[in-house]
Amino acid sequence: MKREWWHNLVAYQIYPKSFMDSNGDGIGDLRGIISRLDYLQDLGVDLIWLSPVYSSPFMDQGYDISDYYGIAEEFGSMEDFDELLSEVKKRNMYLIMDLVINHCSTEHEWFKKAVSDPYGPYADYFYFRKAVDGREPSNLRSYFGGNVWELVPGQSDLYYLHMYTPGQPDLNWGNDELRQKLYDMVNWWLDKGIDGFRVDAIMDICKDTSFPTYYEPDGPDGLRFCKVLTEGPGIGPMLDDLRDSCIRPHNAITVGECFGLSGGELEEFIGDNGHFSTIFDFTAHSLIHKHKCWAEVPEFDFNSWRDAIISGQHESMDFGFRANVIENHDEPRGASRYLPTWAQNDAGIKMLGTIHMLLRGIPFIYQGQEIGMQNMPFGDIDEYNDPNTHMEYDLALLEGYSKEEAFQSCLRFSRDNARTPMQWNNSTNSGFTTGTPWLPVNPNYTNINVELENQNPASILNYYKKLIALRKDPALAEALVYGSFQEEYLEEENVFAFRRVSPHLEVLVITNWNRDCVEIPLSNRDSNGTILLTNCLDQNSCHLSDGVITLHPLDAIVLSIKRP
Ligand code: GLC
Ligand code: CA
Repeated sequence: MKREWWHNLVAYQIYPKSFMDSNGDGIGDLRGIISRLDYLQDLGVDLIWLSPVYSSPFMDQGYDISDYYGIAEEFGSMEDFDELLSEVKKRNMYLIMDLVINHCSTEHEWFKKAVSDPYGPYADYFYFRKAVDGREPSNLRSYFGGNVWELVPGQSDLYYLHMYTPGQPDLNWGNDELRQKLYDMVNWWLDKGIDGFRVDAIMDICKDTSFPTYYEPDGPDGLRFCKVLTEGPGIGPMLDDLRDSCIRPHNAITVGECFGLSGGELEEFIGDNGHFSTIFDFTAHSLIHKHKCWAEVPEFDFNSWRDAIISGQHESMDFGFRANVIENHDEPRGASRYLPTWAQNDAGIKMLGTIHMLLRGIPFIYQGQEIGMQNMPFGDIDEYNDPNTHMEYDLALLEGYSKEEAFQSCLRFSRDNARTPMQWNNSTNSGFTTGTPWLPVNPNYTNINVELENQNPASILNYYKKLIALRKDPALAEALVYGSFQEEYLEEENVFAFRRVSPHLEVLVITNWNRDCVEIPLSNRDSNGTILLTNCLDQNSCHLSDGVITLHPLDAIVLSIKRP
């Protein structure tokens, strides 16, 4: 496998609206981010992914872009952006943007021009289709509920396609002029000096444009999930064209948001000549997708989760790296989701972080994960801003769940769980804003915040710093960056252990998810290993003797072992 400049990076995702507000309007902004760059540098991360900061009416929190060359007023100006970029570079960090090119916003000038001349050239930038039997051209459900077809404003028999919210019309990648404009825009940002992109919803750009009129419904709303439109072949050459026209000439990095790939397709996506540099590994997150709605998802199950992580690791081992995430702006907090209730504490969160950071792949930390932020105890369905949450709530009711059950499922899975403001200190609004935050601050900010944790050597934050430092230690890179992944101790119940193996060095990670102590027998070679890191507060509690290691509940231990 060819070695690349980005293989050993630790990445950090910023959700700008909720990171840091500099002017008291309750909305995070670019100057706020600039003011916290020292924090990120001190944490040790080196690649920052900014969720969208482009001009947008915020129907879907900036994933609906009205001007790809503009910065959202709420977030600041292009001068602020340029300063942010240069401050990032000064700290020897990298910056990647979000690239949202499956759709734009109904406020984009392309869409406005299309609406004013619905049979003219701009209409072909989108998918405009005639009504069928006086109604929507087909019965497909958008990602956020409702039909994917919406009437073109001012028309009574002409619809446009939107796989996401009605404010996000899908772009027609079959139109050469449009594609060229997108490439020009991508190159413009890369020329400015950004290091690459996280590529949003990209698997949806290649559609079955015959647009069949009827699909067998898969839900009580009589609709079928719109994903069927984009399951066909043909996307490969489109992705390669984007890569070759923009990404490769800049030696930039791309991180694809690609759900639903089968193991067999991975090499095509992230192999040496892959469509992307890397793509997120959503194997564990996708466990819930086999359920009809959030309300149907059972309690967290350790074994299925561990199996998912292990199979995800093996799938890409021979040819590439995936990007590892516990949580992001579309998922609930990992601390609340992937730990049993009794383990949702400092020790458990550190244990989960140990696994995440030391798996094979590029670790992506989502803002607040490093301090152990948790799901938000919203009080009522109306408190949620996210359209997806409201869709899931309605879906649960349609499926026959009670209002309380539907609401409980939002508490578990809503995207707003991870979108509440970053918790900086224990002053009003967690130091995020001096105004009224756009989404409420989690009331646990008085215990969980950066300032407090910085002062406490045993905090989650300080543990994350150690994990990041370990992941970046050049002496360990052969194992922790390039080493293969080998699961261990599968026969031990509720233990997740794995080894990262390189020719001269191995790193063994063992974590105990039991409510009791476990004693793990070690081979001779392993028992001569050195403890690199443990989350045990009392270093003696987690001990190695006579070839046996004893782990208390929620202990995580990392050993380095020299190979002869
Ligand atoms: C991606 C984004 C998500 C957004 C969607 C539509 O999944 O991560 O936040 O709603 O694309 O752009
Ligand atoms: Ca602001």
